[in-house]
Amino acid sequence: MEARKKIGIVGSGLIGRSWAMLFTAAGYQVVLYDILQQQVTDSLQEIKQQLLTLEKNGMLRGADSAEVQFGRIKGVTSLNQVVEGAVYVQECVPERLELKKNVFKELDAIVGEDTILASSVSTMVPSSFMGGLKHGANCVVAHPTNPPYFVPMVEVVPSPWTSPEILVKTEEIMVEIGQEPVVFQKEHPGFGSNRIQYSILNECYHLIKDGVLSADGVDKLMKFGLGPRYAWMGPLETAVLNAEGMRSYLERYSHIMHSVSADLKGPADWSLPAAEPIIQQLDQLFPLDKLKERRQWRDERLIAFAALRDQMKRK
Ligand code: NAI
Repeated sequence: MEARKKIGIVGSGLIGRSWAMLFTAAGYQVVLYDILQQQVTDSLQEIKQQLLTLEKNGMLRGADSAEVQFGRIKGVTSLNQVVEGAVYVQECVPERLELKKNVFKELDAIVGEDTILASSVSTMVPSSFMGGLKHGANCVVAHPTNPPYFVPMVEVVPSPWTSPEILVKTEEIMVEIGQEPVVFQKEHPGFGSNRIQYSILNECYHLIKDGVLSADGVDKLMKFGLGPRYAWMGPLETAVLNAEGMRSYLERYSHIMHSVSADLKGPADWSLPAAEPIIQQLDQLFPLDKLKERRQWRDERLIAFAALRDQMKRK
């Protein structure tokens, strides 16, 4: 594959490494930067290992071998080397407001006119750290879902200053690297997926605390019920298919939706000690010293699911 243009990654932790692997799979040259030089060295090792394992298991993305893909990723020691000639820079530093503000200020001072500056931020709206920048029109959020190599959804969220062209270009780049961008019309606290996720967690909390279900029961309800349903389609299409279209669904069920919704208790008290009974049940179900194995178990299932989805997409 002919090498594509350059991508810069700032912060080579879990998410920075994942982006590097996604971009090189699509043929981009990738430079990886971190405030800790040792972190870059370790990340390159880790990426190489992961690419080789994926290749061995037949799960490597892209047309090139693991070795060729790894050859397109380089570590660098300064932000200048990140932005120089880059079409797109992905910021992946820890989720701290002051840190994000500083990194975007530093990038803004040295970046060229045409480079997109994207943030992996999960929980803070872009206007909270992308304000007052010379290149504010080029700044945007591209929030991945962990693990991004196997879960393709990316929330692409503009700040009030992001230009429409940058939003479109970011969407195009995400599609090009095989992700599934969801483009927002404006910023919103929690974007979309965390809003939905927290609504679900709040209701789980109330079901457990009100003595309706155990933690295991709540997880089973999702795992064997709503989860498989939503694995292939969204909640709206689910409703459409559960009746003769949405109008028919609402004719049948809107009164139930209203009465159950009126009973929902809203935000739960996740502070300690209020959440202690839930924590205790979860610590029993998922012992803290077994989480590493459990993550491995999860990743294997996500990999198998991604393969199944690819296979069914081709039909
Ligand atoms: P991490 O802690 O694994 O990695 C962060 C890296 O940034 C570290 O290697 C650190 O040395 C480096 N760093 C710190 N300050 C820096 C600076 N000034 N310049 C350059 N590098 C610097 O964090 P992780 O999990 O990779 O998260 C990164 C971002 O991605 C966060 O905003 C997080 O919320 C977001 N995110 C995380 C997800 C997850 O599941 N871990 C999922 C989606 C988004």
